[in-house]
Amino acid sequence: MSRIDLPQVAELRQKAEAAGQSHLFDRWTQLSAAEQESLLEQARCLDFNLLSKLWKEGVPSFSSDSPAANLAQRARPLRQIVRTPRSSTEVQMQQEARECGESLLREGRVAVILVAGGEGTRLGVAGPKGMYPIGPVSGSSLYQILAEQVLALTGRFGRKIPFLVMTSHATDQATHAFFANHKWFGLDPDSVQFLRQGVMPAVDRETGQILMNGPGTLIMNPNGHGGLLEALQSSGAFDRLEQQGIDLLFYHQVDNPLVHVADPVMLGLHHQQHAQLTVKVVAKQTPEEKMGVLTEIDGQVRIIEYSDLTAEDVHRTTAEGDLLFWAGNTAIHVFDRNTLQQIAVAEESLPYHRAIKKVSHLDGSGNWVVPTAENATKYERFIFDVLPLVRNCLVMEVDRDEEFCPLKNSVGEFSPEHVQRAMISRSLRWLSTRCEVPNSTDPVEISPLLALDVSDLAQWEPPTTWPNGPFLLK
Ligand code: UD1
Repeated sequence: MSRIDLPQVAELRQKAEAAGQSHLFDRWTQLSAAEQESLLEQARCLDFNLLSKLWKEGVPSFSSDSPAANLAQRARPLRQIVRTPRSSTEVQMQQEARECGESLLREGRVAVILVAGGEGTRLGVAGPKGMYPIGPVSGSSLYQILAEQVLALTGRFGRKIPFLVMTSHATDQATHAFFANHKWFGLDPDSVQFLRQGVMPAVDRETGQILMNGPGTLIMNPNGHGGLLEALQSSGAFDRLEQQGIDLLFYHQVDNPLVHVADPVMLGLHHQQHAQLTVKVVAKQTPEEKMGVLTEIDGQVRIIEYSDLTAEDVHRTTAEGDLLFWAGNTAIHVFDRNTLQQIAVAEESLPYHRAIKKVSHLDGSGNWVVPTAENATKYERFIFDVLPLVRNCLVMEVDRDEEFCPLKNSVGEFSPEHVQRAMISRSLRWLSTRCEVPNSTDPVEISPLLALDVSDLAQWEPPTTWPNGPFLLK
């Protein structure tokens, strides 16, 4: 017997009509009971008012106030930035920051957030990107390499570190199963929490109508990593973190196996400078590199996304002849938990960005359409739009070879091969501080359980004879 609630159908139908989305119910009577239920379920999750508002406003691609091009024109060099240490005084400052960060970890004031809700379309592999076996010798997945850093820190500082993994409808089930099958990579399952982010429908770029995937099925996409705020709020995670005495959130993306998870130096600098948000940057390799850039606009630190910079913009220089947009966003952040929580509950939270994409879909006559040109608008929120909402932001430059090589593409730059080369080079560099490293082409890998950074190798005894073949140090 069908469990369809007719008054609810009428109500949703009315809402859809008012929002110019009446086509959703056009084939209602031809749908099976299961398809009808699925359509209702999806329609219930939609915010029709928001969709109409976004469509009517024609969301600017950068923020709610100014067109992106305008922002790039108003951009100025960053005035305050902690550069990679160049003098002994700066090395000493970083050492003091490290000690401060270590105390914060020891006091249990830090949680780690991993965003892993993206669909990873550029890499072109099925399933969540975090499951990709990136370890050049171990074949460890990205999830394992990141989770084992949390495990190592837990052991070192004697405190459980809450590990929050944001998934989406696209990655949620497979990620849960992967963690369970790998026994949570040695972490206490109670300290791992999955947060499922929300969705936004893809709409026709000409009409604003929601695109369909099948009879009774809408095309839905993750709502961007800015969806983290809503996910933290609606799941009760913010409140739990507050009760646990957590005031700092270390945020990172699933694609970068070189990241120093919960880096004590970063945590310490953030704390010492009373920052509400700290962002790690690396110098871009080329002006064209696809990275968001940190800059100052109207006296405020902001990120301009690479897709919002023209070919001309990326080559702009300062009065001194330096590249203006040099500081690439690594998407490694530390947030003040309280500040983020306040932003999450504020009425005017993060703006929506618009991406124009090619999206295959079912048309009104039931035909499957594979577009030859961009036909759809997708809506996403970006976590870094928190920047203009905070008073005190710290930008910290780090060494790319040490901390940043994200897995993005199937071939070429930032492909698995490129990322593994970067992992091997870093391992060899670390080892060369302790011993003579043989000149071989065999891959070498250092497990996070042995060393989180080069200084951890100080106590390590190098082997008397170097083994032939691939070598995993653990
Ligand atoms: C991103 C940044 C860019 C930065 C670069 C560094 C954006 C918009 N831009 O670019 O400024 O220089 O990384 O590598 O993020 N994700 C979700 N949910 C979503 C969408 C994405 O969790 O709805 C996660 C992904 O799983 C991934 C991360 O966010 O971990 C980045 O997404 P991706 O689309 O790969 O960003 P990029 O365009 O590479």
